[in-house]
Amino acid sequence: MDIRSPKAVIGANSWGSAAYGTLLRGSSVDEATIRKAMDTAKEKDLLIFDLAQDYGLGKAQKMIGRFGTDDIIISSKFTPGKKYVPGQVRKSLERDLSEFGRDFVDIYWLHLPTDIEQNLAEIIGLYNEGKILHIGISNFNLAECKKAKAILDYAKIPLYGVQNHYSLISREWEQNGVVAWCRENGVSFWAWAVLEEGMLTDPRVKTKGSIMKLIFSGKKKKLRPLYAAMDRVGKRHSITIPQVAEAFCANKGIVPICGCRKPYQVEQLYEAVNTKLSPKEMRFLEAVADKVNVRILGADMFRFAVK
Ligand SMILES: NC(=O)c1ccc[n+]([C@@H]2O[C@H](COP(=O)([O-])OP(=O)(O)OC[C@H]3O[C@@H](n4cnc5c(N)ncnc54)[C@H](OP(=O)(O)O)[C@@H]3O)[C@@H](O)[C@H]2O)c1
Repeated sequence: MDIRSPKAVIGANSWGSAAYGTLLRGSSVDEATIRKAMDTAKEKDLLIFDLAQDYGLGKAQKMIGRFGTDDIIISSKFTPGKKYVPGQVRKSLERDLSEFGRDFVDIYWLHLPTDIEQNLAEIIGLYNEGKILHIGISNFNLAECKKAKAILDYAKIPLYGVQNHYSLISREWEQNGVVAWCRENGVSFWAWAVLEEGMLTDPRVKTKGSIMKLIFSGKKKKLRPLYAAMDRVGKRHSITIPQVAEAFCANKGIVPICGCRKPYQVEQLYEAVNTKLSPKEMRFLEAVADKVNVRILGADMFRFAVK
């Protein structure tokens, strides 16, 4: 696969920690099942795995390191805190590399637009040493994207991508010009939480209670017309409601990062991103999504953590 145009990315946010799985997703998944999900992804040529040090309460990166990272593409991040400490990116990347059992990462994202100049300067240094092959930015608005690109342009390094929250019901980054700017500049746009952490799934499928489900419960009623619209479109293509959410994203030319920890989820993701929705179906889904007007995560939900 071409790293510049992936069809989809496997998100590993809920890998590794039984406590995280149980509290946030309602159930934990054992290591063997997650390993099978990873093998399924490799069979489907979905080779990119998206990670960060805090995923699975710190266990996801170690887990993928145990599985072996030789034949996959690693996407990982530096998460800046409120205070910049010189050398912080190198120190963090060294920890990542030891967890991955690697001496480089394929794609490395500045997770938040905090201390952009200082953090990017360190990332550029690590890129020049060959420890990072592609540089991306995450949770950046348009002005911050332009600033980051100017810094990288000056260093003669391409900006690989922007990784922000986007889904059928959260299309702000498209409406405010970030997605178009990415397209014009040959920068990939990756969407995180295309399933709104499990909210854009079939409400008829009963799952165990969790913190996320508690947060969602009040919104599900309002989303009913959208579930019905997704079901209608899905039936035409023999795909499920969550697959419609994934296909919607892929049909926009946006790379969906989907939280998959079970083999069937990877298979469904593969099928979804290979489903062609018509312009009429896309407009229909958007119109219903706009009408229900439900917000869950918010496009810029991590702004509070930005210095
Ligand atoms: N850059 C950033 O700031 C940032 C922030 C958040 C996330 N991310 C990335 O985005 C990824 C995705 O986000 P996420 O995992 O939080 O949320 P998500 O992908 O929107 O949703 C995951 C939920 O969807 C369910 N699911 C997945 N595939 C399904 C299918 N085919 N049918 C039915 N349900 C399905 C999962 O079910 P189960 O519970 O049964 O597994 C899980 O509950 C993360 O893993 C991470 O890599 C990045």
